[in-house]
Amino acid sequence: MATPSRRHLADRTSELRPFLAMEVMERAFRMEDAGIDVVHLEIGEPAESPPRAASDAVARALAEGETAYSDSRGLRSLREAIAADYDGRFGVRVDPERIIVTSGTSPALLLAFSLLIDPGDEVVVPAPVYPCYPNFIRFCGGVPVFVPTEAENGFAIDLDRIAEAVSPRTRAILVNSPCNPTGAIQTRATLEGLAHWGLPILSDEIYDGLTYDDRKVASASELEADTFVFDGFSKRYAMTGFRLGWAVVPDWATRPLQTMQQNFFISANRFVQHAGIAALKEGGPDVERMRLGYQRKRDLLVGGLRRLGFGVPRVPDGAFYVLADARSFGADSRDLAEVLLERARVGTTPGIDFGPEAEGMLRFCYAVEEEAIEEALSRLEPVLNELRADTQRKSEREEEG
Ligand SMILES: Cc1ncc(COP(=O)(O)O)c(C=O)c1O
Repeated sequence: MATPSRRHLADRTSELRPFLAMEVMERAFRMEDAGIDVVHLEIGEPAESPPRAASDAVARALAEGETAYSDSRGLRSLREAIAADYDGRFGVRVDPERIIVTSGTSPALLLAFSLLIDPGDEVVVPAPVYPCYPNFIRFCGGVPVFVPTEAENGFAIDLDRIAEAVSPRTRAILVNSPCNPTGAIQTRATLEGLAHWGLPILSDEIYDGLTYDDRKVASASELEADTFVFDGFSKRYAMTGFRLGWAVVPDWATRPLQTMQQNFFISANRFVQHAGIAALKEGGPDVERMRLGYQRKRDLLVGGLRRLGFGVPRVPDGAFYVLADARSFGADSRDLAEVLLERARVGTTPGIDFGPEAEGMLRFCYAVEEEAIEEALSRLEPVLNELRADTQRKSEREEEG
């Protein structure tokens, strides 16, 4: 009898690719442990503090013994506060029974993909793409079908291209607006066009509220359609480490999602849920202050990157990233990010993390202090000048040879 393998890894784990932004960050941490200081523009993490009301609410909840499990779908009071927030921001009435609270937006995405995808099923995904989506889809046995969007037209989703991508195996269409990594906002007409297929729309709205120059974001919650709307506290409220998010789902999805949540996660952290209620009720002024700050930082970073020779055809409308064309410094974004980390001590995310459409680009996060942006730009300048000269010499040699 053959000996059973004791260290067998399930095939689906081989479908997972490392999250490069995290890889760069972890490498930067090792450099910092060795006493080298690094400017972190690689990870989508606000340097701002969470609203004071949220931190106070956690301390209070702990002192009051709010340490047990909660309803698997989340505290009723939090789900009511989330519903009131949709009413306040979009004028949409959401039944709290259709809300499921999770430990960050990521588990909500995993639950929804697990609910909808059988092996071989397809999900239509505009690209460049938040790297975890294709990993979630493949992990569930599904196939992401990418629909490219281009910087030249503001990364707008082309509905004709969506039509070409939809097939009998399509189980959902994904949209992320404002988008990580492009910062693009999709219009209400585009969302309606996506809904035209009658397929579930998975709308990741984790950056809503973070839009600039008076741009407003349309929410899929406003559509008369089967929408799964994902959101959370990580970005808008600068609460990444609290691990708190939610999904608003169609009523036919609530019960199976609840069953999955009960089995896989039991519930989100109860005392953290109190922070969520406080953030929604009292954090508005903090969000507005941070948003105005991000707008200034965006302009500072875009101006600086253009000066250094990066291509930024369009200033991003939302989220807190710039996806910049870096091809004059080298074609391989992974190599380039590595060189910039080693030589300039600046963390950036290689464009390839967001799919082949973003190869040759680097993503910079501007949710950091202004001084960090200025420091990064001045550290990058000499290294980029050398890289540009190298690239030019190389292409001249190639032309001669
Ligand atoms: C588009 C997008 N969705 C989801 C997430 C995950 O957020 P959370 O911290 O709520 O799990 C991120 C984090 O970077 C993101 O950029």
